Amino acid sequence: MNICVIGTGYVGLITGACFAEFGVNVVCIDKDEKKISQLKKGIVPFYEPGAEELLQRNLKANRIIFTTNVADAVKNSLVIFIAVGTPPRGDGSADMSYVEEVAKEIGKHSDGYKVVVTKSTVPVGTGERIKQIISKNLKSKVKFDVVSNPEFLREGSAVEDFMRPNRVVIGAENKQAIAILKDLYRPLYLIETPFVITNVKTAELIKYASNAFLAVKISYINEIANLCEALGVDVQVVAKAMGLDQRIGPKFLHAGPGYGGSCFPKDTNALAKISRGNNILLNLVEAAIKTNRNQKQRMVDKIMAGTKGVRGKTIAILGLSFKPNTNDIRESPAMEIAQDYLSFKLGAKIRAYDPEAMQDARKVMPKAIYCKDAYDAVKGADALVIATEWNQFRNLDLARLKKLMKGKFFFDLRNIYDPKKAREAGFEYYSTGRV
Ligand code: UDX
Repeated sequence: MNICVIGTGYVGLITGACFAEFGVNVVCIDKDEKKISQLKKGIVPFYEPGAEELLQRNLKANRIIFTTNVADAVKNSLVIFIAVGTPPRGDGSADMSYVEEVAKEIGKHSDGYKVVVTKSTVPVGTGERIKQIISKNLKSKVKFDVVSNPEFLREGSAVEDFMRPNRVVIGAENKQAIAILKDLYRPLYLIETPFVITNVKTAELIKYASNAFLAVKISYINEIANLCEALGVDVQVVAKAMGLDQRIGPKFLHAGPGYGGSCFPKDTNALAKISRGNNILLNLVEAAIKTNRNQKQRMVDKIMAGTKGVRGKTIAILGLSFKPNTNDIRESPAMEIAQDYLSFKLGAKIRAYDPEAMQDARKVMPKAIYCKDAYDAVKGADALVIATEWNQFRNLDLARLKKLMKGKFFFDLRNIYDPKKAREAGFEYYSTGRV
């Protein structure tokens, strides 16, 4: 089967490369010529474990090609995945202009039956909108179906998440379109991945409802962490015991500086907006958004209270990406704490180290000093802040850190270290939800 994927970001590239791995002939399209020429050479323009090997293997097998030419790709494909961005607008709603532009192109170049699949996270009702745009732009009387097939990939584990998903959701109104998608996903069928077959609107809501729930879960454990600090209780013990209840589950119960990334902040705001647009108030989602915003301020308050002020002091920040195993700093709590608060508002000097995100960080935080590793970052620092829980930070030599630092403050926002051991190493140690 021939498919094309329009958009070669985290979602589009991983989707295309994984379908190629399934033996499908894939054409990936992007209007960014520089990105396309890099991809043709097997270079992935972002850090995603396993993506580059996957891409190079499938380039070599001639199962995946890259082009900026939408017309031919649409003409030669039966299934067309829309995987372009839906970035947040100022008012929190999703900017659908890229999706709508692609729908127009698909209408203009469709010369036979097509299955048009939205892979990007799109507001409920987008499938209907895409149908109208394609119909309006069709040059010949051809049939097509619009399907919602939301992705659930996590950055840093996107390949694994595609190859072994918890479920595949297919939203369609037409049996033929469902059959074609099931055929495309047959390799996952063979490993008995659960498929949820429903209509387009339901599939669109499943994605938002899932992401928003995960965000609510994180904000919930962060609020419990804040209560734990007041009560002198260890949130990690609470979270572990909670997670043993199969109705709760152990994942996404790690307290920290709040959620970031290109999805949770965007999707929670968009869902709240969509809901308000339908005269329904999602109090829990809106509360989670507020809690998440406040959590970063709480981290800064913690740092200020411990150090009695940071103006003119040197703060070492370990971790800049929004989560480990990615270079992505979009909505990163680490960046917001380092750049907006400690540096810009409070006048601290920042020394930073991140295994993958420093190139991106440098563009928005040029004044910071970027270091070659964690030990270099703490040299002469008054305080150390672990903001993203990269594996490289999990087993640092505490005595060596202490010796290299000027001050004794250690803010472990991701609860990587044992408070007792850190204090025995001479640190004035603070973490999230623990005493
Ligand atoms: C998320 C969803 O998990 C994924 O299904 C969807 O397709 C895209 O959005 P992603 O944003 O890549 O994936 O990362 P995720 O691992 O979900 O983490 C999101 C944020 O939550 C990160 O900032 C992370 O640090 C934070 N987080 C996660 C916590 O603070 N605590 C946790 O327990 C888990």
